[in-house]
Formats: sequence, C-alpha cells, structure tokens
Amino acid sequence: MSKLLNIAPGNPGVWWLWLAAALPLFGRTPARAETPVTLAPPHYLGAPSCASSSCHGGGGAHQNQYLVWSRRDFHSQRPVATLATARSRQIAAALAITDPSTDATCTTCHAPLSAVPADRRGPDISVTEGVSCECCHGPAENWLRAHTRKDWTPADRVFAGMRDLQNLYVRANACVACHQTLAVPLLQAGHPELLFELDGQCAAEPRHWVEKPAWNRAQTWYVGQAVALRELSWQLNRETIPDQHLLARWQALVWLLEKLDGVDPALPGVGNLAISPSPGDFQAAQSGADAAARAAAGLTWSADLAPTMLARLAATSGDFTTAPGEVAAHRAERLVLALDRLLLAQTTPVSPVASQTLNDLFQEAQSIPDFNAATFATTLGQFARALK
Ligand code: HEC
Ligand code: HEC
Ligand code: HEC
Repeated sequence: MSKLLNIAPGNPGVWWLWLAAALPLFGRTPARAETPVTLAPPHYLGAPSCASSSCHGGGGAHQNQYLVWSRRDFHSQRPVATLATARSRQIAAALAITDPSTDATCTTCHAPLSAVPADRRGPDISVTEGVSCECCHGPAENWLRAHTRKDWTPADRVFAGMRDLQNLYVRANACVACHQTLAVPLLQAGHPELLFELDGQCAAEPRHWVEKPAWNRAQTWYVGQAVALRELSWQLNRETIPDQHLLARWQALVWLLEKLDGVDPALPGVGNLAISPSPGDFQAAQSGADAAARAAAGLTWSADLAPTMLARLAATSGDFTTAPGEVAAHRAERLVLALDRLLLAQTTPVSPVASQTLNDLFQEAQSIPDFNAATFATTLGQFARALK
C-alpha cells in the first residue's frame, strides 16, 4: 500500500525539505574554518536543545519561542495525538494500515522526525515532539552553537543549514510540504482535504515571531498560491488517471492566478495555461508557478498591488455560471480566501458593506456539493460595487 501512497522520499514535501536543506551547500564560498560544516547530512537535535531559559525557553517576548510552540502551537502536541484518535483509526482501516501512529504514510507529516534515520538523531530527540523547530527551521547540528554569534550574517546561518524563513518562497516551501499534497487514496479514505494558503495559515499559527518591516501580506498570499499550484501540478503530472476532484481544484487555482497575469511588469505570472489539461500542461504549470513564486518572493511589493489584485478578482462574477459546477465551486473556495487576505492587506479603511458581503461569500462557498453559482455571482457583484 505504501508504494501507492507516495510517501517519503517521493513525497514532494520531503523532496522540498531536502532541497532546501541541500541548496545552501552549493554556489557559496566555504564557511570560515571554525564553522563545523560537513557535507554529510546534518543531525537533528530535537526541540529540547532550543528550550533552555537563556535561549528560546525564556519568559521575555523575544526568547519565548519554545514556550509559545510547546504550550500553544498545534504543531507540538496535536499532530501526534491525532494519529491515536478514532477518526485516524477509521482512515487507517480504509487503507489497510494497522497502526497510524507508526506507519510512515501518516507519520511523514504528523510525526515527521520519525523519518530521520537513527544515525542522524541527537540524543534528546523524540518523535513525539511532533512538528518541532527543526522541521521548519532546518536540522540544527551545524548551526545550533554558532547561530547567535554576532559576526554571523544571515548568509552564514543559511550556509550552516538554517532555513531563511523570512524569504517567503523558502517559507512557503517549508509549510506546503505538509499542507497541500495528499495522495488520492488518503483523500478517498476520508482524510480532510488540504488547502494551502500561506498568509492565513501563518496568521493562524500562534506566532512565536514578529514579521520584519519589509513583510507584506498580499505578497505572502500570492507566493503561497503560486507554490500551491506548483505542488498540485506536480501531483497531477504523476497520476496516470488524474483524479477528477483534484483536477477541478487545479483548474480553479489556474483560473485564479491567471486572473492576476500582467498585474505587475516584474511579476512573470503563471502564463496562459490550457483549461482542459494534458500532462504537458501540468509540467508547464509546475514550472510557470514555481517561477512566479520565486519572482514574487524577490519583488519589492508596491502598496498599490493589493488593491489592484483585489479589484481584478472582485470583477470575476461572470466566470462562475460559465464553468462546470465543481470547478466553479472550487473557484469560489479559492477566491473567498484570496479576497479575505487582500482585503486585510488594504491600507485604506474597508467599507462595512464590503466586509459583510465577504462574510456572505464565505457562507456561499462553504459547501462544494451545494454550491450555487448564480447566487455566488450576484453576491460577488455586490462585493465589487462595495469596494468602489
Ligand atoms: C501531507 C501531510 C499529511 C499526511 C501524509 C497525513 N496527514 Fe493528516 N493532516 C495533515 C494536516 C496538515 C492536517 C490539518 C488539516 C487542517 O486542519 O487544515 C491533518 C489533519 C488530520 C486529521 C484531522 C484532525 C482534526 O482534528 O480535525 C486526521 C484525523 C488525520 N490528519 C489523520 C491522518 C492519518 C490517519 C494519516 C495517515 C493515513 C494522515 N493524517 C496523513 C497532514 C497530513
Ligand atoms: C512536517 C509537517 C508540517 C509542516 C512543515 C508544517 N505543518 Fe502545519 N500542521 C501539520 C499537521 C500534521 C497539522 C495538523 C495537526 C492536527 O490537527 O493533527 C498542522 C496544523 C496546522 C495548522 C492548523 C490547521 C487547522 O485548520 O487547525 C496551521 C494554521 C498550520 N499547521 C500552519 C503551518 C504553517 C504556517 C507552516 C509553515 C510555517 C506549517 N504549518 C508547517 C504539519 C506541518
Ligand atoms: C511550523 C513551522 C515552525 C516551527 C515548528 C517553528 N518555527 Fe520558528 N519560525 C517559523 C517562521 C515561519 C518564522 C518567521 C520567519 C523568521 O522570522 O525567521 C519563525 C521565526 C522564529 C524565530 C525568529 C523570531 C523573530 O521574531 O524574529 C525564532 C527565534 C524561532 N522561530 C525559533 C523557533 C523555535 C525555538 C522553535 C521550536 C520550539 C520553532 N521556532 C518552531 C516557523 C516555525
């Protein structure tokens, strides 16, 4: 079964994790002599190695990351606990998995440290830590001791294997690893669908960081959607008989991002993609989306981009009644999340009517089977008028 399920190392998430960890090793001058960087894959040391009160386990606002994560973040206790619930047993039974708590099909995302080979684990590590510091920040062996040194530049830290999560492309790759691609058999077995949306999901995570002044919400949203399209395209490209629901989700996301083509000369956009796709189109979408994500993450995001994008997306009410039912429903699902993030990104006050209408749109996009395209299109028209 596990072959079918496309688990590690074929899992794109794990692939990106590896790529992100390996990339810094190329194209840079060697680190200083005192930096113990080796070419062997680094060890994972475990969350306890970040937890002392003088490091990230302190009470102060800039030292409390371990406490925020261990007490409030749903990545600490929940992912592992979930695998012991009745719902997990039910999903597992449908897949003929005996124990979801130890089967790699599930632990690859819910207890990711169990995929680290024994000879790359530090003494303090426990797979019950769930999604812990190093799952996002990178394995710590080569940077743990030195990453606070005043003479280390951000590039030195990256070279030692710490991910630059302030770079939104790098951040999106870190999160999407577990938040988008689910093999079709898992979906059919009743696993909740995953829908990646970087800005909203970063906002929902109990923050243990402060975004830097250059951070931009609309940019975070856009990079996340482009990365989600890349992953969906990658997945569909590998399926011999593409799952029709997955295909509808892909078509909806292609539609959304194509609406934003040309919105800024520096943003390449995803290109003009066929709507009745063939394998070559998935490939094109995968590379187009990746290029768009990289470019978007590298841009200095001007303040008028969010309102321009918002206006374009709000003007799409004509696109709902013309698309097949399920595609239209998925368009609506992606669109309401987009409008929500872009509305939050506005620097000018938002009209109460626009906020109220957006709530209605959320309600109307709630259920894929019950989606009513005509009603949604009418409400979207009201939303567009309320923005003006
Ligand atoms: C690609 C990563 C990934 C894999 C593989 C995966 N999960 Fe999940 N799972 C998630 C994420 C992310 C969520 C949270 C979804 C959300 O709320 O957005 C989740 C949610 C769940 C939930 C719902 C939890 C709740 O409280 O609502 C259950 C149950 C679950 N997973 C069980 C499993 C089981 C059992 C397996 C193996 C058969 C598995 N998962 C494999 C990523 C994964
Ligand atoms: C190694 C896998 C992994 C990575 C990497 C990861 N997550 Fe998660 N995340 C999970 C799993 C598994 C859950 C579901 C926990 C549960 O309910 O069992 C989850 C839950 C969440 C939830 C709560 C979902 C809900 O609807 O309740 C949010 C929000 C979230 N993650 C955001 C992020 C962000 C932002 C990043 C990147 C900075 C990220 N995650 C990286 C695995 C991961
Ligand atoms: C789900 C992914 C995820 C996990 C798990 C995670 N982090 Fe982070 N962390 C981030 C992101 C995203 C940022 C924001 C980018 C940045 O500032 O580097 C961040 C930022 C930070 C910062 C910078 C704070 C600031 O305000 O500049 C520290 C320190 C940190 N994390 C420590 C930890 C520690 C310690 C743990 C484990 C106890 C941990 N992180 C677990 C994703 C994660």
